[in-house]
Amino acid sequence: MKIVVTGATGKLGSLVIQHLLKRMPPSHIIAFVRNLDKATDLMKNGIDVRKGDYNEPETIRNALQDATKLLFISSPDSDDALRVVQHANVIKAARDAGIEHIAYTSFAFAENNPFAVVHMAAEYAIRAAKIPYTFLRNGGYSEFFINPLLQANVKSGKIMTNSNNGKVNSVSRDDLALAAATVLTEGGHENRGYNLVSNNPWSFDDLAQVISEVSGTPVIHQSVTFHEVKNALVQVGMSETYAAMTAGIYNTIAEGGMEKHTDDLHRLIGFETPIKEQVEKALQN
Ligand SMILES: NC(=O)c1ccc[n+]([C@@H]2O[C@H](COP(=O)([O-])OP(=O)(O)OC[C@H]3O[C@@H](n4cnc5c(N)ncnc54)[C@H](OP(=O)(O)O)[C@@H]3O)[C@@H](O)[C@H]2O)c1
Repeated sequence: MKIVVTGATGKLGSLVIQHLLKRMPPSHIIAFVRNLDKATDLMKNGIDVRKGDYNEPETIRNALQDATKLLFISSPDSDDALRVVQHANVIKAARDAGIEHIAYTSFAFAENNPFAVVHMAAEYAIRAAKIPYTFLRNGGYSEFFINPLLQANVKSGKIMTNSNNGKVNSVSRDDLALAAATVLTEGGHENRGYNLVSNNPWSFDDLAQVISEVSGTPVIHQSVTFHEVKNALVQVGMSETYAAMTAGIYNTIAEGGMEKHTDDLHRLIGFETPIKEQVEKALQN
């Protein structure tokens, strides 16, 4: 059996490969990478590294030869119309290569999320191609909120958002990577979809309290307006677009758009990394 992991030089794909290496010999793992220069460590580990580009169907066909299963990590491109084409290229090549099981990184509760239409398109394309599937409907990455930038919040003693008391069902990339490795190496996950979100969503008040405990410095959460957050982010050097996107995510949180929870992640991996552990890691760096 050979398992292909696309996006293998990316943040999620690299973590999946680490989990797979604990469960199978490296020669059974195919790393699908668009830039071979970034894959020297994978090669040193004895992994079968193959060039594949979502924009070039020929390279995808070559990369999938002799493979049994595929972890298809969705394209990070910002142009959703292009992503639809890239995803279709991979799905058609997987069907032609006789892939027996495809696990696709979709987005949590995609069917109700206007920003996840591109993932629904990929889910339908996989079903249309009649490839046995597992839809890994990943929640938002915790690392978007909990990362070394929290050092600045410790210094200023506050976190400013426009999320009010909204809750966040985010998951660490490493937990999502373990869930993907589990689905690829265990039987019984075919033709299912999992909403991989926290079953214990946190608020920014909770996060401020955890940061205070971990750092030993009091940090409070201040909920202000969309424009105040956006302007503050631009003032510390963020681009207008990224600042508006960040404040937009806080809006979604305020409206309850990230509070829905399930037990799917716990059922797959048996735990979730608590936010205290994530904050400790973020503040260590
Ligand atoms: N759940 C969430 O909160 C969330 C947030 C953002 C994105 N996502 C989605 O989750 C995916 C994985 O996340 P991540 O953090 O691992 O992202 P990432 O670190 O940006 O990794 C994306 C991977 O896709 C590869 N890639 C990009 N364009 C490609 C192409 N044309 N052909 C083949 N490979 C290509 C990249 O290759 P290089 O290493 O050569 O760049 C990289 O390995 C993203 O791609 C995106 O679709 C989810």
